[in-house]
Amino acid sequence: MTTALLPKDFIWGFATASYQIEGAPAEDGRGPSIWDTFCKVPGKIADASSGDVACDSYHRTAEDIALLKSTGAKAYRFSISWSRIIPIGGRNDPVNPAGIAFYKKFVDDLLVEGILPLVTLFHWDLPEGLDARYGGLLNKEEFVADFAHYAKVLFEALPKVQYWITFNEPWCSSILGYNTGLFAPGHTSDRTKSAVGDSSRECWIVGHNLLLAHGAAVKVYREEFKPRNGGQVGITLNGRLSKFPSEEFLIREGDAVYPWDPEDPLDVEAAERKLEFSISWFADPVYFGRYPESMVKQLGDRLPTFTPEESALVKGSNDFYGMNHYTANYIKHKSTPPEPDDFLGNLETLFYSKAGDNIGPETQSVWLRPNPKGFRDLLNWISNRYGRPTIYVTENGTSLKGENDLSREEILDDEFRAQYFRDYIDALAKAVQDGVDIRGYMAWSLLDNFEWAEGYETRFGVTFVDYEGGQKRYPKKSAKTIGPIFEALIKKE
Ligand code: FCB
Repeated sequence: MTTALLPKDFIWGFATASYQIEGAPAEDGRGPSIWDTFCKVPGKIADASSGDVACDSYHRTAEDIALLKSTGAKAYRFSISWSRIIPIGGRNDPVNPAGIAFYKKFVDDLLVEGILPLVTLFHWDLPEGLDARYGGLLNKEEFVADFAHYAKVLFEALPKVQYWITFNEPWCSSILGYNTGLFAPGHTSDRTKSAVGDSSRECWIVGHNLLLAHGAAVKVYREEFKPRNGGQVGITLNGRLSKFPSEEFLIREGDAVYPWDPEDPLDVEAAERKLEFSISWFADPVYFGRYPESMVKQLGDRLPTFTPEESALVKGSNDFYGMNHYTANYIKHKSTPPEPDDFLGNLETLFYSKAGDNIGPETQSVWLRPNPKGFRDLLNWISNRYGRPTIYVTENGTSLKGENDLSREEILDDEFRAQYFRDYIDALAKAVQDGVDIRGYMAWSLLDNFEWAEGYETRFGVTFVDYEGGQKRYPKKSAKTIGPIFEALIKKE
């Protein structure tokens, strides 16, 4: 029998993001975002698609809420499209009442059904207007002030929301958006292809600006809104860092790591360095007010420095740690000197150890191989390094090899995904027994949706979305797997 060991107020549910599910890009006054622009660039999205229609969730909020309800979910993590709230994006630009009304009603409708909203302010879809006006995330003064204003507009408009996430995976915005060019706005560190400044510095500048914007928004929340409704605010981090020989695909998540050769101190050190270049890049400033030493050492003056005021703004700016997690890798050190734009920390990531052990089975995503032990280990690593913060797992899930080619019946019987969730939730429960303070878990994702550069070829949903068949939703087996496990694990009093 399972022992109930999760706290009574533990919340579980599902996660999505605005651009991946909403569609309706020009409706009710929404302005364009950098993802609208990026999807039009030939070759950027695997199936040449976009989020123009996605799951049409903008028009199907009632259906999505009914789906959530049918799983028994206690919470729903979704993100807000900045371009619906302030279509051009800036602090002196008009606020769009229709955008506010849409999310206000959505929050109310969730609460009526007893589902707690976890709101992400920024899941990558920056208003195009800000990129065009001043270079978007690259412009410290403008971006930080505009983000703080946008956050304030929402804190004001949605007082019933108790959980706020400022940024989703700033690592992705910085590295994929400004170094590899795989994500919007598609800048690359190759100077011959980049239009702006010294491109080998861009991703580090963007990371710095995101941290400051997070700090500025949290300050606004704590001064003006937290005293009123006692809510919490945090940032969601990952650590996608691995570059595979196939190149196009990069690990995107807060991966666990193991040294390729545990006997080699250089591999052991490289594995630690990998976590520092991904997670600690953001978490060290948030918890300690400075960047990790390994990054300072390798990047030199390419890594911005914090002024004392900036450091004070960012340090201590998390009420909780938001953790996205999917997979694990083996890490092998490289002895060659790093390139100026090296974001890996000069190491290699592999699916095999020196002894030939495989990290986990293949999925549809080249970067993702299930390894639940890694989840438990990484939870412990974060907890130990950052002084046992409260952690909400804000994403965890898997794709399934060849899912798109299966019959409908087979798709709905997604035992592989169901087992992934059983194993990962078991690892989470063990981490709680280890002493990690975990208060929530959001599975990625409620629905199959637009998987960024992979388009619609990769499905992550616990619900099958029939894009050609009128967007009809069909719950898969995994949709019903999660609830009963958590209900058995959560203490009743
Ligand atoms: C995460 C993203 C999320 C989704 C999953 C599979 O990195 O935050 O939007 O794409 O990966």
